[in-house]
Amino acid sequence: MPSSPFDPLKAKPSTIAAQALRRHETTAERRRITPPIDISTTYERDADNAYSSGYCYGRDDNATIRHGEEVLARLEGGATAALFGSGMAAAITAFLALPRPAHIIVPKVMYWCLRDWLKNDAPGHGLEVSFADMSDLDQLRGALRPGATKMIWIETPSNPLWGITDIAGCTAIAHEAGAIVAADSTVTTPVLTRPIELGVDVVMHSATKYLNGHSDVIAGALVFAKDDAFAAEARRLRKALGAVLSPRDGALLLRGMRTLHLRVAQQCQSAMTLARHFSNHTAIAQVLYPGLETHRGHDLAAKQMHGGFGGMLSVRVKAGEAAAIAAAAQVKLWRRATSLGSVESLIEHRASIEGAGSPCPPDLLRLSTGIEAVEDLIADLESALDAALCAGLAAGIKAG
Ligand SMILES: Cc1ncc(COP(=O)(O)O)c(C=O)c1O
Repeated sequence: MPSSPFDPLKAKPSTIAAQALRRHETTAERRRITPPIDISTTYERDADNAYSSGYCYGRDDNATIRHGEEVLARLEGGATAALFGSGMAAAITAFLALPRPAHIIVPKVMYWCLRDWLKNDAPGHGLEVSFADMSDLDQLRGALRPGATKMIWIETPSNPLWGITDIAGCTAIAHEAGAIVAADSTVTTPVLTRPIELGVDVVMHSATKYLNGHSDVIAGALVFAKDDAFAAEARRLRKALGAVLSPRDGALLLRGMRTLHLRVAQQCQSAMTLARHFSNHTAIAQVLYPGLETHRGHDLAAKQMHGGFGGMLSVRVKAGEAAAIAAAAQVKLWRRATSLGSVESLIEHRASIEGAGSPCPPDLLRLSTGIEAVEDLIADLESALDAALCAGLAAGIKAG
């Protein structure tokens, strides 16, 4: 008996991503393989004054942007998604879409630029912010004010120490108190964790990172579990602020997402190899990576991350801050730059960019693993550490 034809609705996430949902194969142009870029800023009204095309003006949205949103919503298992001109624009829109005044709880350790906004700017927008250690659910319960707390923001693994937050635990606590949960899932990506399946109400991405993956687009995203009033308010604000992603960048992002699964699989594998290797290195005091059994959040990460522990890790250099900066100065293959999640590997002395008030130890180097041969990455970092160590010893001898 011939087998029944393949049902595309049953396709796996990597298939959906690789073919970008094939949404661009409209009935008129069924043979197109690559999504087109819709650069029109405006759309014609029908003679009867309606907009039957579903499009009106480019600041609201556009066909390329909607295409990317549909792919991402499918990958995250959300009802709908909205793309923004940056991750910061997406995140701040999520906060401003809350009915205010609002009390919100956010992590003590999180992406520094957003932490700064929450500390310095959010109160002026009617947001009372409590910072909590999100790895401690009792601390989270203690910070909750039922009725007043409107949102709990989590980031897991969190920048730059890669602490793990119990997503399902947080959502249970939040929902009991009538608050929603938003998760910055930039680092984990929908390949490894789908927070909506664990109860999260809105997933945020700096799509600049893994989703695009090539260091050539600044973009952000919100993915909503439900297409509800909160999602509608976020879209309204995006339109009012003009924070929508540009179609040309949307097309690059769409292309980037088509290789997301392959890139993330390679990055996870290389990060694990790097973590294991440098755990035994004499110049390294500690490797922070949730894939290591020694990491505080390892068991939880193994439960809620599937197929790997991510491409991000940090190393603490035994000889201290100056040696860490010196080691970063010596690399020949790793690129000394901020950001993460791209095909090329990046190294960064994180405290230098986070500045005063950062919880980041001064001896920490943050590593974003790319897709280069891991043997090359190890050899380059090892010789950079050796060179920094030798220079330090020589300086010590001279000073002595
Ligand atoms: C975890 C995380 N969230 C949010 C952002 C902000 O995203 P963007 O730079 O796209 O505005 C970043 C950027 O580094 C990030 O690493």
